Amino acid sequence: MEILVTGGSGYIGSHTVIELINFGYKVVVVDNLCNSKIESLKRVEKLTNSKIPFYKLDVRDKKALKKIFEKHDIYAVIHFAGLKSVSDSIINPTYYYDVNVGGAICIMQLVQEFACKSFIFSSSATVYGNPSKVPIKETFPLCAVNPYGRSKLMVENILQDMLLANTDCKIALLRYFNPVGAHVSGLIGENPKNTPNNLMPYISQVAIGKLDKLKIFGADYNTSDGTGVRDYIHVIDLARGHIKALEYLENNQLLIANLGTGKGYSVLDLIKTFEATTKKKIPYEIVARRKGDVATCYTDTSYAFKKLNWQAKYKLDKMCKDTWRWQKNNPNGY
Ligand code: NAD
Ligand code: WQD
Repeated sequence: MEILVTGGSGYIGSHTVIELINFGYKVVVVDNLCNSKIESLKRVEKLTNSKIPFYKLDVRDKKALKKIFEKHDIYAVIHFAGLKSVSDSIINPTYYYDVNVGGAICIMQLVQEFACKSFIFSSSATVYGNPSKVPIKETFPLCAVNPYGRSKLMVENILQDMLLANTDCKIALLRYFNPVGAHVSGLIGENPKNTPNNLMPYISQVAIGKLDKLKIFGADYNTSDGTGVRDYIHVIDLARGHIKALEYLENNQLLIANLGTGKGYSVLDLIKTFEATTKKKIPYEIVARRKGDVATCYTDTSYAFKKLNWQAKYKLDKMCKDTWRWQKNNPNGY
C-alpha cells in the first residue's frame, strides 16, 4: 500500500515525503516540476536512505495519471500539486482554475475509480478572506477574495460533494497558515523560482545579499506595531500534521482543520527574531500596503489539537534558524 503525493518535489511536499517515510509509509511522487526541481527528491532520498518512485507528469493528464494508479496500490492521496501565487492568479485566473480545480478533479476521479481510502487536500487560510475576528476557527464563514483562494474553496466544495456521493473515500481539508522554515539538515527548503512574494524567503534572500532590502507593506495596520500579523508555522510541524490527518481518517470520514501555531507575529517581530538568531542585519523600508492583505491572521488551534492530538512544536526562532541554514548552504537554491 502506497501514498501518492502529488506536488511531492515542491516545498511542503518534499518535507512531507520525508516525514511520511520516517513514519514508515511507502510513497509515490508525481510532479510536473513547473515550480520545483527533481534535486529536492534526490536529497529526500539521501536523507531517508530510500528510493522514491517518481513520475514527471501533469496532474491534469488523466491518462498518464491512471497508469500510476494501475501500477501502484494507492491507498491514500495527498494532493499538494497546484499553483500558489495570489498575484499570478489575478493576472491569469483561467490558468489557475485549470490547474488547481481541473487537476484536483482529475485526481478525484481516479481516487473514486480505484477506490482509494483517503484524500488529503492542501487548502489555505486564504479561504477565510478577511476574517471579522481572530483567532480563526474552522467554523468561520468562508470568503475567498482572489482566484487562488476561490480555486481552493471550489476544490473544498467539490471534495465534500464527492464525500456525499461516495462514502468510501475519506477526506481531509487542511487549511495551512504561513508555512516557513526548512529541514534541519539544511539540505531541503523553500526554493522560489523568481523574486519571492512571501515574507520569510524575501528576508532570507536579503540576508544572503541577493536582495538589497525588504519592503514592508504597510505600518499603519491596527496591530501592535502597525505591520501585518501572521501565524508562521514550521514546515516540519505542518508535514507532521498530514501524518496525523492520515491516522485520523482511518476512523473518520471528514476532517476540516486549520494548521497553524495559534500565535501571531508582526513583520517587525519576524525581522527582529531573524536578526537575533542569525546575526544578519535585515535593512528595510516601509512602503504602501499590498492590495488584498489582511491586518491580522492566526488560527485557533483547539480543533486540530482535539481531533488530531497535534500541535506545532517549533517556535519562531527555530523557523528562522532553519530557514537561514538552508539559505546559507544553498544560496542559489537547488
Ligand atoms: P510548491 O510550488 O513548492 O509545490 C507545488 C508543487 O506542485 C510543485 O512542485 C509544482 O511543480 C507542482 N505542480 C504544480 N502544478 C502541477 C501540475 N499541473 N501537475 C503536477 N505538478 C504540479 O508549493 P508549496 O508551498 O509546497 O504548496 C503546496 C500546496 O500547498 C499548494 O497546493 C499550495 O496552494 C498549498 N498552500 C501553500 C501555502 C504556502 O504558503 N506555501 C499556504 C497554503 C496552502
Ligand atoms: C506575510 C506578511 C505582508 C512580503 C500568502 C498568500 C496565502 C498563503 C501564504 C498560499 C504580510 C508582509 C510580505 C514582503 C511584506 N499562500 N510582507 N513584505 O500574505 O499572509 O499569505 O502566502 O495559500 O494565500 O496570500 O503571506 O508571506 O506574503 O506576507 O511586508 O515583501 O508580510 O504584507 O503582512 P500572506 P506573505
